[in-house]
Amino acid sequence: MFLFFNKTMKSNKQLSKTNVLKSEGYIILDHISNGSYGEVCHAKYIQEEKELNLVVKIIDTKQTSKEYVSKFLPRELDVIRQINHPYIIYTHSILQKKAVLFVFMAFAERGDVLQYIIDHGPLTENQARIWFRQLTLAVQYLHTMEIVHRDIKCENILITEHYTVKLTDFGFSKFVKSSKKLNCNTYCCSLGYASPEILTTRPYDGKISDIWSLGVVLYVMLNKKMPFNRKNIKLMYKQQVKRDWEHQPSIEKIISENVKICIDSILQPEPRKRWTLDKILNSDWIQMNQKLVKMTEQESFALIEALNQDKTIHQKHLKKIKANKSDTQQILGKRSPRFFSITQQLESIFSSNRETNESKYMLKRSERIVHTDNLLNKNNDII
Ligand SMILES: Nc1ncnc2c1ncn2[C@@H]1O[C@H](COP(=O)(O)OP(=O)(O)O)[C@@H](O)[C@H]1O
Ligand SMILES: [Mg+2]
Repeated sequence: MFLFFNKTMKSNKQLSKTNVLKSEGYIILDHISNGSYGEVCHAKYIQEEKELNLVVKIIDTKQTSKEYVSKFLPRELDVIRQINHPYIIYTHSILQKKAVLFVFMAFAERGDVLQYIIDHGPLTENQARIWFRQLTLAVQYLHTMEIVHRDIKCENILITEHYTVKLTDFGFSKFVKSSKKLNCNTYCCSLGYASPEILTTRPYDGKISDIWSLGVVLYVMLNKKMPFNRKNIKLMYKQQVKRDWEHQPSIEKIISENVKICIDSILQPEPRKRWTLDKILNSDWIQMNQKLVKMTEQESFALIEALNQDKTIHQKHLKKIKANKSDTQQILGKRSPRFFSITQQLESIFSSNRETNESKYMLKRSERIVHTDNLLNKNNDII
């Protein structure tokens, strides 16, 4: 069955044929990355004379955890079906074949920001300002739509051929109730980008935590390293709340006071005092580039669309998911994929290195974790 929005697709019957993707014009090409919940490959979509370069995320629901399939995946599909923003990756179509989902999206030719920094070194402040503003506008759009992303990190920011950034990976995203401030209670994010309030595992405001992750992204863009020690969660939390982090000495010398203030105000451990997205966008740092002061037509159009969204649609979606009635859940919920417990996932992440001190908070691919216990008070091997 199709869950998607490509109007050219055909009926269910045709989908049962083995060559369904090809017959629908989709060709899956070489592998790009092994994602947390499936493989990411290059793909092509051929329709009449047109050929589109796409990327497909292939999610085999039999190979992923039950929690992911019943909780996170339906939310991800719900969210990506409704968003449309110049700095968010464009989802072309979503297909399902038996237990496998194919999410086709636009191809970002220059890969993700993490790889870009590893290959090219830290960004110049001017480049960081342009990309960071684009990213902040993407998050402002999502928050206006009452969506929290909850996995903002350099690996989830893609770069197009023309050096525009696009936020991707809505695997942890969800609609939230605008009236409810402490709208999230599952620990989910990538550890290095998680806010102090997430680490305490009390209910938290997902929007304000997204802003913390933005601060970590900006720090990484400029320093090519992580600000906190991720191998020891207790220590990491201490560093966050005591503001015990610093810029690389060579970077500190060359970056402006304005960007330092910006990072400092975003990595504010007290959620209520943390800078808002508006403050970031109107900050002296962004204004240092006069071209970035005003929104382009496309940028403001997207925001107006979000503002005009009928909020009741979101509430309906929330209810649908809660009632286990979303299309995906009806189909996928019946299967029983292999279940890896959360603790097992956590252990496999941490077992490889249990040292108390990380030499320097190096830059490497982050791994996502989901947890509902208080990580800080847990007396187990991982901390
Ligand atoms: N549209 C795309 N264009 C180019 N590379 C992509 C695209 N989507 C994903 N990737 C690459 O694949 C990686 C994993 O994709 P992502 O959607 O983040 O899945 P996961 O849930 O596994 O993290 C990204 O970090 C990026 O390097
Ligand atoms: Mg990702």
